[in-house]
Formats: sequence, structure tokens, C-alpha cells
Amino acid sequence: MKNILVTGGAGFIGSNLVLALQRKYPEARIVVVDDFRSGDFKNLETYRGDFVSADVSRLDLSEKFSDLTFDAIFHEASITDTTIHDQQLQVHDNVEGFRRVLDYAVIHQTPVVYASSAATYGTERTLMQEDMTPAPANIYAFSKVQLDNLARAYAQNNLAWKIVGVRYFNVYGMNEAHKLAAASMIYQLYCQMIAGKRPRVFVGGEQKRDFVSVKDVVDLTIRAVEAPSSGVYNCGSGVPFSFNEVIEALNEALGTALEPEYIENPYSFYQPHTEADMTRTQRDLGFSPTWQPREGIADYVRSLQGA
Ligand SMILES: NC(=O)c1ccc[n+]([C@@H]2O[C@H](COP(=O)([O-])OP(=O)(O)OC[C@H]3O[C@@H](n4cnc5c(N)ncnc54)[C@H](O)[C@@H]3O)[C@@H](O)[C@H]2O)c1
Repeated sequence: MKNILVTGGAGFIGSNLVLALQRKYPEARIVVVDDFRSGDFKNLETYRGDFVSADVSRLDLSEKFSDLTFDAIFHEASITDTTIHDQQLQVHDNVEGFRRVLDYAVIHQTPVVYASSAATYGTERTLMQEDMTPAPANIYAFSKVQLDNLARAYAQNNLAWKIVGVRYFNVYGMNEAHKLAAASMIYQLYCQMIAGKRPRVFVGGEQKRDFVSVKDVVDLTIRAVEAPSSGVYNCGSGVPFSFNEVIEALNEALGTALEPEYIENPYSFYQPHTEADMTRTQRDLGFSPTWQPREGIADYVRSLQGA
């Protein structure tokens, strides 16, 4: 790949992706588009490429990049704070940003890999499979369903073109600190525990999440360019892991013995269980996650502590 565009590259997943692409294709020209609404320049300290600070939902990509043809576009830009309930804002910025990417990419049929979300499955499911009817429980999830709908419609009209959705589950790893309350529960519990506080989780602590290491997420996102055709692929570890188990794993990694403190759950749209069915991803992309939750958490703690 010679020319690569990454939207949302100053964010958590985007920056890990950009730095991995830089390592994998050292000669490539990489361009990041990000308006810093939730990203942080610190995530890209070692980045050597081009940076366009702009809102992708308002940017004329054809004009901006009139001299460039990209070999692949990775679209990560999105409002990611699920507690933002402004429906007009979430849908405008998330959907129109993607529409602009597709309207630009269609000209040269540039392969597009975009970030979908496990939030599209809603709150009632346990094992989550790509073809299930979406059940968005908040406006963020609704906007992500619209991305999947748009991708499907554009792909149906352009059979030779590849638009691949990677449906991320609960991602954790380096470069997520800037997300504050929207960072992974693993990171939030880690911060509480290194401050010597008891880790706070919702009553019972047995709610399960499919936590996936950003290292696996990046590998799968890059691999998705080679998908046999357009479609959506789950991106999880395939292993549901409870908050109590996360605390156990963190205690192990930190050498502490802090007991959970249980608090009431104020959210009506809370997912009690997320679990990716990874069958299609394994079959079509030949991808199996490297990091199981317990080992992934230990690895993450080592990185956070600079080991
Ligand atoms: N982290 C997860 O667990 C998770 C789970 C499911 C899906 N996702 C999706 O993965 C993608 C990356 O999420 P993240 O966790 O890295 O979040 P993040 O907030 O760290 O990154 C999003 C980046 O996009 C930028 N951005 C947002 N809207 C923009 C716009 N209109 N124009 C330009 N830049 C814009 C932000 O400034 C930020 O740098 C998002 O699409 C998100 O919805 C993430």
C-alpha cells in the first residue's frame, strides 16, 4: 500500500492503527483526518505522516485530496461517547462523515474498512452474529446501524468494490486514557486500583463483556482490506468475561487483593452480556484473536507500567 487514509487517527483505535500501518508500510504516505473532538495528539507522538485537522462530516475529500489516490481508507472517526444523547449531532456527524468517505472512495473504488460496533446488537442478545437484526438501544448505536445500512446499499450498487465493516466489541489497550469515562472498564478499574481504591462495578459484577485487545483489533482491521467481498465482521475475543473476573485478573497482574465495591446501575440501555461469534471472521479472514482476556489484561498492565 502506497497511500493510506485514516479518519479518527488521533483516537484510541485509530492511533494504534496508524502506528501499526507506519510500521508495516514504512514507505507509504499515510494521511490522518481528525478534528480532535475526542482524540489527543499525544497518541501520535511518533507519527511521521500527514495530518489534516478537519471534521470529516463537513470536509470535501475530493477537493482536499485532488492530487492523491488512496489504496485503502480506514474510517474510525465517530462520536464515541455513548452518553451524548443529542440525536441530531450523533447521526449527522457519524453518518454524514461516512457518506462523504463513501462518496469519495467510490470514484476509484478504493477499499474502505470502517468501524461498526457491537452496540448495534442491542441489550437482549447473548451470542452475537453478524446477520442478526439490529436493535440499537441508544442514539450512538443507531448511528452505527446507519453506517452498516449505508455500506450495504453502496456495496449492492458496486459489486466489484469492497466496503468492510469491523464490528468492534469492548476494546482495551494503550492510548485510551484520553477517553476518560468512555475508556474501557478495564482501564477505569485499573486506575481505581492503582490509586488504592476498591474497584467500583455495577451490582453483582457478573455482567459479561467480550473484551478485545486493541492489538487484535488493529490486526483484524488491517486484514479486513483483504476480505473476499463487502460485508461485516465481528471483532471480539469470542470470550465473555465478567467484571468480577476483570478485577480478579487486575489483582493478579498488580499483586493486590482489592475487593469490588458494588454500585447501582443507572442506565436503562445497559448491555448485560456481549459475546462475539467469531465464526465468520475466522472463516473469511482467517483471523483468530491472539489475546484471551486474562492474558490480554496482564499484557496491558505490563505496558501501562512501562515494563
Ligand atoms: N473502543 C471501543 O471499544 C469501540 C467499540 C465499538 C466501536 N468502536 C468504534 O471504533 C472507532 C474508534 O473509536 P475509539 O475507541 O478509538 O474512540 P476515540 O474517541 O478515541 O476515537 C475517535 C476519533 O475520531 C475523531 N472524530 C470523531 N468525529 C470526527 C469527525 N466528524 N471528523 C473527524 N474526526 C472525528 C475523534 O477526535 C477521535 O480522535 C469509532 O468509530 C467507534 O465508534 C470503538
